[in-house]
Amino acid sequence: MQYKMLGNSGIKASVVAMGTWVTGGGLTWDGVEDKESLRAIDAALAAGVNFIDTAPGYGWGHAEEIIAKALKGRRDKVVIATKCGIWWEDNRGAFHAHLDGKDVYISLRPETIQIEVENSLRRLETDYIDLYQTHWPSKEPDLTPIEDTMACLMKLKDAGKIRAIGVSNVSLEQLEENGACGPVASDQFRYSMLYREPEAHILPYCRQKGLATLTYMSLEQGLLTGKIGMDRVFKETEFRSNADWNAWFKMENRVKVLKMLEGWSDLTEKYSCSLAQLVIAWTAAQPGVTHVLCGMRTAAQAADNAAAGFLHLDEAEVARMRADAIALGDPE
Ligand SMILES: NC(=O)c1ccc[n+]([C@@H]2O[C@H](COP(=O)([O-])OP(=O)(O)OC[C@H]3O[C@@H](n4cnc5c(N)ncnc54)[C@H](OP(=O)(O)O)[C@@H]3O)[C@@H](O)[C@H]2O)c1
Repeated sequence: MQYKMLGNSGIKASVVAMGTWVTGGGLTWDGVEDKESLRAIDAALAAGVNFIDTAPGYGWGHAEEIIAKALKGRRDKVVIATKCGIWWEDNRGAFHAHLDGKDVYISLRPETIQIEVENSLRRLETDYIDLYQTHWPSKEPDLTPIEDTMACLMKLKDAGKIRAIGVSNVSLEQLEENGACGPVASDQFRYSMLYREPEAHILPYCRQKGLATLTYMSLEQGLLTGKIGMDRVFKETEFRSNADWNAWFKMENRVKVLKMLEGWSDLTEKYSCSLAQLVIAWTAAQPGVTHVLCGMRTAAQAADNAAAGFLHLDEAEVARMRADAIALGDPE
């Protein structure tokens, strides 16, 4: 496994990181077996993963509780990243969405962050969070000045409740503003070979400033593992049926992705690896990418994904895969 620093925080975390949105379960992911989630965390750790990303919004605290259960007696071996800003206790903040039966708001007000951090510490059964990230930037009509949010996060850092500050889903301008207000260790954002927008500005900026980057949906929620065939149907309540985010899942696009993946059988053979490993290794090889978050529903997926942290692809093959992905064009 390769390990890289989380910016200038002094924290070293595995390049393949475990994402736990699916671990939260609920309608968004059509349920999950907690026992299997615990096994998945065990398998990831056994294979060298020491970095787990979560958020209160993943199963309304459930993912954080599962992580606490899995890490009993070995909390200090793991870098835990969680988040603040998705708020559902009351209507403070700006309305975000109706999800899994709850009205969800985005709030980066210091007053809600202070409540959130205590809730996360309690659910995670820990007295510190390694990386505390703002989940989404605040928005109208409840815009909190970045300066106020950062001041609150810096106070939490001074108090030892969090070790490093991260952001997620921010624009370049917001990232710069956060950095101007205090020490930002990392930026988390959507990035995959089929969603390369961050290559324009965010990735070069993070690379130049020495910020860690945590890429999410790099497996395009399973599509790039090749296991989601033309016959797989998602329920309306599942996130993967949301065509705004997942246009690649539409049948006319899915067929193209599956064909591209089939064309890489010589690569999976050469490296004796799975498609998931090939795609994770490709993502990790991109300039500016330091950590690849991978959702892992089962122990088998966790072991499979973690092994990608040992895989180095030849430059020519990285370029070939990029060319194939670009050739697919944008999803319709
Ligand atoms: N900051 C944000 O706003 C944000 C947004 C999205 C995600 N994230 C973070 O990033 C993480 C990763 O994103 P994601 O979970 O949405 O998507 P992802 O990692 O692209 O895909 C996860 C899904 O891919 C499938 N999968 C994973 N490994 C596999 C393997 N080896 N073989 C076969 N299938 C495999 C599983 O699907 P099945 O469920 O069908 O088994 C799994 O649920 C999240 O868990 C979360 O921590 C953050």
